[in-house]
Amino acid sequence: MLFFSMTDYLSIIEKHYPTGSLRWRIYLPHCQAVRDLALAIARAHPALGADPAILEVGAMLHDIGIFMTDAPEIGCLGDLPYLSHGYKGRELLEKEGLPEIAPVCERHIGVGITLQDIIDRDLPLPHRDMTPQTIEEKIICYADKFFSKSATDLLKPKPLEKVKKSISKYGDDKWQIFEEMMALFGLDQVYSNTSSPSR
Ligand SMILES: [Fe+2]
Repeated sequence: MLFFSMTDYLSIIEKHYPTGSLRWRIYLPHCQAVRDLALAIARAHPALGADPAILEVGAMLHDIGIFMTDAPEIGCLGDLPYLSHGYKGRELLEKEGLPEIAPVCERHIGVGITLQDIIDRDLPLPHRDMTPQTIEEKIICYADKFFSKSATDLLKPKPLEKVKKSISKYGDDKWQIFEEMMALFGLDQVYSNTSSPSR
């Protein structure tokens, strides 16, 4: 059971994403799009047993670390490489007293980053497994892949071809993992409310 209210997570967001700022205008709709899809998937697949409260808070905070990175095009003026937003976000949420939510920050990137990936590609990340473990982490990771923070319409899911392109560049094994997620979570909730049938 998660004892954490909506106001609590909004206050964490407001600390780092000032209302009206460029990064707030991107962060909020992006996280809301991921949250809504994650909750829709959970509703459509009750047998998965995902906790909607964890999905909501996790989705709204999964990218909390992006402000610390060097991504001025989305209003993030830190000096870290963008990839660091995962583990930095985890550290931030642990300090905020959310140890059960915090891991999703580093476990939602791509389809998850393995320790071997970090070593083989010499990634600027702590050496540990960063793949999604819980059902909530898996759903949030999956839902996140359909939404780009650089799209004109942040709420519109990307066509599947684009998702495939961005995942496959990290290897065929990554696309295979995504296919397993698709088999589990489906595409019906992803494209049900969009005018674009292009997949
Ligand atoms: Fe995201």
